[in-house]
Amino acid sequence: MTETRYDLGSTADTWKYFWHPVCTLDELRDAKPGGKGPLQSTLLGERIAVAEVGGRTVAFQDRCPHRGVALSLGWVEEEKVRCRYHGWCYDATGAGVEVPSLEPGRPIPARARLVMYDCEVRYGLVWVRLDSSADTKIPEFPAWDDPQQRCILGEPYLWPISSGRRMENFIDVTHFPYTHQGTLGAPPNTVFPVYPVDQENGRLDWLTETFLAYNPGDDTYGPPAGPDSRMLPPAKYTVEMPFTVVLSFQWSETFATQIFMHATPIDAENCRSYWFTCHTEDGSSDQVHLQLQDMVLGEDLPVVASHLPRFIGDAQEEVSVFPDKTSILWRRWLRELAVAAEKGPEEIKRCLAQVNRESAAS
Ligand code: FES
Ligand SMILES: [Fe+2]
Repeated sequence: MTETRYDLGSTADTWKYFWHPVCTLDELRDAKPGGKGPLQSTLLGERIAVAEVGGRTVAFQDRCPHRGVALSLGWVEEEKVRCRYHGWCYDATGAGVEVPSLEPGRPIPARARLVMYDCEVRYGLVWVRLDSSADTKIPEFPAWDDPQQRCILGEPYLWPISSGRRMENFIDVTHFPYTHQGTLGAPPNTVFPVYPVDQENGRLDWLTETFLAYNPGDDTYGPPAGPDSRMLPPAKYTVEMPFTVVLSFQWSETFATQIFMHATPIDAENCRSYWFTCHTEDGSSDQVHLQLQDMVLGEDLPVVASHLPRFIGDAQEEVSVFPDKTSILWRRWLRELAVAAEKGPEEIKRCLAQVNRESAAS
């Protein structure tokens, strides 16, 4: 790992302890004929590959130990990954099992072994963790397990900013009336209540009010559009450290929506977002929900792509105000995790276990 600076003094060594999606299951299926990969992806500056080998989805450094070429140029055959250069083969554990240039009976060097990473498929996404020693969990996604909810996987998008910048854009409601004028709000509705924030279990939870409304018969949600539109009760934000956010709306007794997003750090200044939009069955087409997200993301992109620097540098070089509270608390925890990672995985666990419940106090 390099010492390139990521958000708030963190490095790739800070975020290697956490699970990140590196592709969707569909992308893996489509990567090669046969549907098993290998597919190349980049996580924390590391070139990795994902493949389905021996009935398991596995992830490994995308580098053949023989001469260092990309294994993702090769293919999966008979439950092995074959390198395209000289045809060496590796099994699901990463062990070299075939070297075609060797005479039969000659031993395969023990160092002919892939660097393997933790890999799990969840929510139709392939999650990878480069270092398992802090025992972190794959983030929760409540709507996925809710039979009332229909979850639609959106097209992942690559933005030329850090995962931290992408997260802050997502959790910040005070940009709605300007960046999303007419879509998610408009002046003069610019002052939002600041709610207590709870910190527990590696999560930050808080409520938020927006000036959005449920517009029956229209495209279901957005700014108030008619006399029978209803302002919604506070929505709930949950951030799972470091880069997952779930936003849950209960628009009416029977209509609820949820958005899930994880901003995977490709490197210090680029992230790929994996996301779902979910809603209780209301007969609306998937297209309606995807189009609204597309519109919102299209409004965000030119703004967030202009951040200087592209990662969150020294917080002192920016000016924060009280309504930026959730982002300030999230930044503080991010910084603490960066410091903890320098001391090792035990310290990461301790840092994630912190509890501070403002809602109980108020
Ligand atoms: S580089 Fe992979 S087999 Fe030679
Ligand atoms: Fe936005």
